Amino acid sequence: MSVDKQQKEVFTMSIEYNNFSLSKNEETIISSLSLRTASSGIIAVMGVSGSGKSTLLKVTNRIIEPGLEGWHINGDISFRGKSIFSPDVKPENLRQQIGLVLQEPVAFRGTMVENVAFALRFGHLKIKRQHANKMAEDVLEQVGLASEVSDINRVKASELSGGQLQRLAIARAIAIKPKVLMMDEPTSALDPIATESIEQVVLQLSDEILIVLVTHNPSQARRLADEALFMEKGKSVHGAQSIDQLFRSSGSKAFDQFLSVHQQ
Ligand SMILES: Nc1ncnc2c1ncn2[C@@H]1O[C@H](COP(=O)(O)OP(=O)(O)OP(=O)(O)O)[C@@H](O)[C@H]1O
Ligand SMILES: [Mg+2]
Repeated sequence: MSVDKQQKEVFTMSIEYNNFSLSKNEETIISSLSLRTASSGIIAVMGVSGSGKSTLLKVTNRIIEPGLEGWHINGDISFRGKSIFSPDVKPENLRQQIGLVLQEPVAFRGTMVENVAFALRFGHLKIKRQHANKMAEDVLEQVGLASEVSDINRVKASELSGGQLQRLAIARAIAIKPKVLMMDEPTSALDPIATESIEQVVLQLSDEILIVLVTHNPSQARRLADEALFMEKGKSVHGAQSIDQLFRSSGSKAFDQFLSVHQQ
């Protein structure tokens, strides 16, 4: 790829919220959000409970679909310079580009390899079983599960620990090679060792794709993120800014209060 083209690709990976508001049954959940994320690295999203972090990820992935079930939007979200709500953008294509790992990882019945291969065989890509299984094995290696679990072709997803299940969900999300991976509090239920193994995976992935990481943990944001935003009642207090800048002088009482409660 030419350097010009490469630069353009990197530039357009950012997600842009343009005066974006989201309401459900007349109740505003996200309010006039305007920001553009970095186009690479790790972006931490912090904020008190109920400030709209999960909702922001879900609408960016179009799990929340405007026009259905009382959801209504104003303004726009664009990715690679194009509105994600454009009539010619199919949600499954969008999700192939912007992956989402929910806080409570869901696993199917079946082995670890089957769980990951499922996304490759029956999603957008329709890859044949044998090839999909091989790709699944590689991804399970990448998230450290292949070397940790005795036999990924026999062990069932239901037999995994919470931290392993999170990594299985990450494996499934990255198997289809998204450009962005959003994760909703992937370590909130985990002990320090399981947390560290997830953080290693996140750091390693961030060399290749943009990561959006919702976290309650300011120390984790500081350890991992390049950029952060702090949400308050559906608004970002500062837009996205460098993590150092946010911690040095947020100028926001709400963020300082959040820090005093959550800082360990
Ligand atoms: N499906 C829904 N229908 C109606 N209201 C919703 C729905 N999902 C979320 N909300 C409301 O949107 C607001 C933001 O919720 P959200 O789950 O995004 O918060 P959060 O910042 O992720 O909180 P937490 O840190 O507890 O996970 C809350 O007031 C919540 O009640
Ligand atoms: Mg949430």
